[in-house]
Amino acid sequence: MTAANSFLISAAPGQSERDVPDTLYVLGIETTCDETAAAVVARGGDGGGRILSNIVRSQLAEHAPFGGVVPEIAARAHVDLLDGLIGRAMKEASLDFRALSGVAAAAGPGLIGGVIVGLTTAKAIAMVHDTPLVAVNHLEAHALTPRLTAALSFPYCLFLVSGGHTQIQAVRGVGDYVRLGTTVDDAIGEAFDKVAKMLGLPYPGGPEVERAASRGDPGRFAFPRPMKGRRDANFSLSGLKTAVRNAAFAITPLRPRDIDDLCAGFQAAVLDSTADRLRIGLELFDARFGRPAALVAAGGVAANQAVRAVLGDVAAACGTALMLPPMGLCTDNGAMIAWAGAERLALGLTDGFDARPRARWLLDANATVPSRFSNTRAGF
Ligand code: KG4
Ligand code: ZN
Repeated sequence: MTAANSFLISAAPGQSERDVPDTLYVLGIETTCDETAAAVVARGGDGGGRILSNIVRSQLAEHAPFGGVVPEIAARAHVDLLDGLIGRAMKEASLDFRALSGVAAAAGPGLIGGVIVGLTTAKAIAMVHDTPLVAVNHLEAHALTPRLTAALSFPYCLFLVSGGHTQIQAVRGVGDYVRLGTTVDDAIGEAFDKVAKMLGLPYPGGPEVERAASRGDPGRFAFPRPMKGRRDANFSLSGLKTAVRNAAFAITPLRPRDIDDLCAGFQAAVLDSTADRLRIGLELFDARFGRPAALVAAGGVAANQAVRAVLGDVAAACGTALMLPPMGLCTDNGAMIAWAGAERLALGLTDGFDARPRARWLLDANATVPSRFSNTRAGF
């Protein structure tokens, strides 16, 4: 499948970023998981952003037969696809490499083979065209993306919710993050995928579980609400996942109606737990840093309509605005890497050619890693 999509988000009518002094033009490269992506963004001296090109090639079709992302297949696909995507991104942006202010690549965290492909390519471009290199933390790119499409000032509260991450972060400035909560085992998207797999639904499971849940009865199974009522803002999904497995085994063979009800019960438990954890996260934010400018969400799970509704409810209850970047910018893409690169460049932050690819890279340098990671994904 070629899920290439490209979209532009306009500057103010009649205004081009070329009118804004000190505009930076940055090429961004994303290869940390199963999306190969390249994009060019402009950042005006006034901090405003504009996407000049944003091309994402999903490798869903390559991985679907295996029921999950296969790192070796991903790395090879990145090698095959990346050059062409970069060429297209530059062409759509109508820019020559010499016009770039910098080239940014996600240097981690992620699947190391893919990270090496993207970062090495960025180094080669930076070297050949004598332009600065920015080695971007993929999580920082998610964290800063809302500032690409809207005037959002620091500090704000980020809920990063994908297949690899479940974190609540206080975003206080570029490079200044405080982790308020995280999962102690599975990421939420990972739990959706695993529940889908155990119920025989196709990969990726999140949208399938959401669809089944919309038909099911959320009250038929009484699943636990992990961590609910605790004073910290951490998440846990593995106990809930086991409860779904046990309930499914108990009524095997499963009829379609059973699958719908199991999905509805699972999703309702996730929503309930998420609302509670986020409410505590926002309270912790308020106590330490004052009222956040907004609650923003990023990651594939933020595509879930029921999750979006819960985020709106929590934000309203806490007196905070909810900001959801356009869906194409919530999931992995090159524009978010280019934008994080531009934000860093604007502060004079660049990297040397010795910048290393990193499988793990905490966003908040001082954070402690919870002790109960069940696998490597949750530790990204
Ligand atoms: O951010 P993303 O595209 O990639 C990374 O994980 O980095 O997120 C993918 C994750 C998968 O676990 C997928 O199942 C989940 O997001 N997801 C959803 C939905 N759409 C995608 N989870 C629940 N409901 C959805 N509608
Ligand atoms: Zn991501």
